[in-house]
Formats: sequence, structure tokens, C-alpha cells
Amino acid sequence: MADFTFGKRPPSPAPQRPRPASAPKNDTQQISCRATNPLSLDDDLGKVFLDETQAKATTATRLFRNDDLFDATKKLVGDFLSSNKSGKFSMWSTGCSSGEEVYSMAMIALGEFARAGKQHPLLEAFGTDINRNRIMEARSGVYRRPGKDAFNANYWRLLNQYAEVDASSVHMGDMLRGICQFMLFDMRNKPKKHTFQFIVCNHVLQYYDAPGQRHIIGNLTAVLKPGGTMYLEGLTQHGLDGTGVRKIDGTSNLYRIETERRPSGLTKIRPR
Ligand SMILES: C[S@@+](CC[C@H](N)C(=O)[O-])C[C@H]1O[C@@H](n2cnc3c(N)ncnc32)[C@H](O)[C@@H]1O
Repeated sequence: MADFTFGKRPPSPAPQRPRPASAPKNDTQQISCRATNPLSLDDDLGKVFLDETQAKATTATRLFRNDDLFDATKKLVGDFLSSNKSGKFSMWSTGCSSGEEVYSMAMIALGEFARAGKQHPLLEAFGTDINRNRIMEARSGVYRRPGKDAFNANYWRLLNQYAEVDASSVHMGDMLRGICQFMLFDMRNKPKKHTFQFIVCNHVLQYYDAPGQRHIIGNLTAVLKPGGTMYLEGLTQHGLDGTGVRKIDGTSNLYRIETERRPSGLTKIRPR
């Protein structure tokens, strides 16, 4: 798996064929995500996440899946906008499967930008996955229409605003597709170049053993902006040990780096 360098858009995949709206999407959605035998870093992920006939893991996902993730997105974007920081608000969902999570986060963020009267070019959302087919689906931005009770009225309002919703399908709109970028990336590798205010790893870590979780978290913290936040779901005991990452509060899935790194090369001079 090539180590994708953030910052460059990869060449468009060919051919880009949107999934027909009527095609069944993510039949695995009902399968439990909890791995019975956690994966280690040496496992052949090609056999696990690319061939979903193996019951060990799934690429299941859906639009507006976790309220707490979207509440956190809303708050972080709101804080960013009210702080008047320069630069873009940059988010990354690693292990995004077919992209619904990234589009959902982007819609939430766009809602906050609109509320604050700010321009969306200040927003960017990346989604990466190890599964090429899922990344192709994410890039197509076409999904089967969720049932009317799939999520609450606020989420439906955002979906109707930023996507075209017809009787059977959802087509993500141009603005969303301009903001959301999808790439193949194996999170066992170190990401390069780009840094993020918000990194999301949702329904993924549970598949890995504790050394695997710690390794992945090390890779994510390397590209977290100072003061940035991570949403880490599925951590098991010892998955954080020695990573320098701590929970923001007792119950949420939100994490920060314990002590912010000093710029490299600088050492604290002890007063005489
Ligand atoms: C259950 S899905 C979660 C999708 C989405 N984050 C959500 O919560 O709805 C897990 C995804 O993690 C991806 N994944 C697992 N290990 C990975 C790795 N090392 N690098 C990139 N993606 C990985 C799988 O391919 C799969 O699409």
C-alpha cells in the first residue's frame, strides 16, 4: 500500500462509476464491528478489510452515524470560528470506509460556517481508507437514500441543503465534493505533510490489539495540530499506554496530547 502524501490530490481514479442508487449498500451494516480476535500490525489487512467475507472486520458505515462525533465537530468548528484563527479548519477521518462520515462532518461544519457568516474555503475534510472500493464509492458521493427515521430532523435539514435527495438516492452536492477529499491510506504508516485540528478514528481501533492501537495513535498524533483534538472510538485497555494522549473528560471519545510538543531543537534552559 503506497503511503499517500497529504497535500496533493491523487489522480482521479478511472473509471469513476457512481454506485446505482438501487444497489444494496453496505450489506455488512448489521454485522457487529467488534473483532473477536484483535488484529496485530503484522496481519495481512488485504485479507481482512478488503475481503469482507472474513467475519473479523467490516467496512460498515452510514450517514450521521454517531451523534457525539457530530456534536464534537460542531463545537470544535464553532470554537475555531470564534477564535478568529488564521488558516483552514482541517479534519481527517481515518478508516472512513465509503465516506459517509466525512460528508456528515463536512455538512455539520458547513452549517457552522454559514451560521457564522464565514466562507467555506476555510474548511477542508479528508477521508482515507485501506479499501480501494470504498474510496471509489466515497469519491462518487452517491448513496442509497436513508430511511426517514435514520436520523433526526436537523441532520435531514443539512442533507437536503448540501445534497440532492430523491426518492431512492442521495448525491452529495458540488460544494461538499469540493471540500471532501478521499484517498487510499494505510494508517499503519506515518502520514506526511498535512496537519489537522480534528482527527477521527471511529469504529476502527477495536479491531487492533493494544500494540497496534498504540502504533496507530502514534501516527495520528504526529499530524495533530498543537491544541488539536482526536475522536478515538473503540480503544481497549492499554491502547493509550505511553502515547502521551489523554481523554478530555471522563466519558467522551475526545482526546488531546497531554503535553504539547516543543518545537524540535529547543531545550528548556534551567535557571541558574
Ligand atoms: C467499521 S468501518 C468504520 C467506518 C467509519 N469510520 C464509521 O465509523 O462509520 C472500519 C474501516 O476501517 C478501515 N481500516 C481498518 N484498518 C485500516 C488501516 N490500517 N488503514 C486504513 N483503513 C483501515 C476499514 O477498511 C474499514 O473501512
